[in-house]
Amino acid sequence: MRMYDLIMKKRNGSALSDEEIRFMVQGYTKGDIPDYQMSAMMMAVYFRGMDADETLALTMAMAESGDMLDLGEIRGVKVDKHSTGGVGDKTSLALTPMVAAAGVTVAKMSGRGLGHTGGTIDKLESFPGFSTAISEQQFKENVNRIGIAIMGQTADLAPADKKLYALRDVTATVDNMSLIASSIMSKKLAAGADAIVLDVKTGSGAFMKTEEDAFALAREMVRIGNGADRKTIAVVSDMDQPLGCAVGNALEVREAIDTLNGNGPEDFVELCMTLGSYMLVAGGKAATKDDAEAILTEVVRNGSALDKLAEFVEAQGGDRELVYHPERLTQASIAQEIESPADGYIQKIVCDEIGICSLILGGGRETKESEIDLSVGLVLHKKVGDAVRKGDSLATIHANDQARLEAARERFLRAYTIGAEPVKKKPLIKGIVMK
Ligand code: URA
Repeated sequence: MRMYDLIMKKRNGSALSDEEIRFMVQGYTKGDIPDYQMSAMMMAVYFRGMDADETLALTMAMAESGDMLDLGEIRGVKVDKHSTGGVGDKTSLALTPMVAAAGVTVAKMSGRGLGHTGGTIDKLESFPGFSTAISEQQFKENVNRIGIAIMGQTADLAPADKKLYALRDVTATVDNMSLIASSIMSKKLAAGADAIVLDVKTGSGAFMKTEEDAFALAREMVRIGNGADRKTIAVVSDMDQPLGCAVGNALEVREAIDTLNGNGPEDFVELCMTLGSYMLVAGGKAATKDDAEAILTEVVRNGSALDKLAEFVEAQGGDRELVYHPERLTQASIAQEIESPADGYIQKIVCDEIGICSLILGGGRETKESEIDLSVGLVLHKKVGDAVRKGDSLATIHANDQARLEAARERFLRAYTIGAEPVKKKPLIKGIVMK
């Protein structure tokens, strides 16, 4: 088999076979196929697309290009959750202890943040001593003992995707549905869970700007998951404004703790309940979404979800007491209000701009090597549709540096549109894709 012939075949619009896709992925991972040939292939795929069989074959070949975690020795159905990422998305912090407290085993791999979106690992590191760099053995032991563990992605998990993603990033071939779906799902399949619940975001703060694209991606990923014998459900949710109120690592941890204490923001609670319910259904703990919601409501009410977070934090090296005393989490030295410049209603918030404000304050990573300040960020007090009077606080900025604070404030005010017309709030959950 020659890579040249495969490039020509795809360029001319034909489908590649399983065997051809495997040859190409294995050859590229080993370094036998050079970047320039793979770049040409990616561009051919970009223009010609891949059908469902090709997309599944590409996903499986990438998943099998490195370690495949075997979670067989862990009891019960293991459920994983993945979000396509957004601003203020601290869902895993509240959701996974809720689900684990309800008796569904959570074995999750998470990543760090890059650019305007945050990552679960960074947020969890707001608990001093907490580490996701645990061994596979420790990961399995924790899941068996307390029903929950979160691990950082190991270097050898889907290495083909790692290499291919870096190539796509510099050859203008990222935004192809088959390539995105196979990239995300290859990592999820290699991570070994039996069931996967996906949160596909749509809107100005998301990768998929339109609902149409978000649903297409959701359908593609569900098809891949089910094709690989993993029960897969996707929730398409709004990311046209930040999720909840807090944006910034330790601030988001606090909001997750508030939520486990029964005091979370409405949209964030709704998302946790929706994703959590499908995790319970996929994990066989509840027959219907309504049954699942009742169970999740109870684990928050009786405090067992909060206790599960404390257990989880302690099992991975953090101080469990901070879960009960979030005021002891790291705090920025300056907290300043941003006042509304006018009366009216919040018409629109350019979501990724709020993520950039957090980045400016030092809460995000511009490059993989950047150090981040866990204490900084913003807490929004007004969201789309809310009425506001001139001088009301739109948000509190938490900063450690006056110049950064000023830059973030200026950018923040440009991200908010205030107008006289009342605005109808849009639903958070856009739909569910199960097959
Ligand atoms: N996230 C991924 O992991 N891969 C993509 O291709 C896009 C987003």
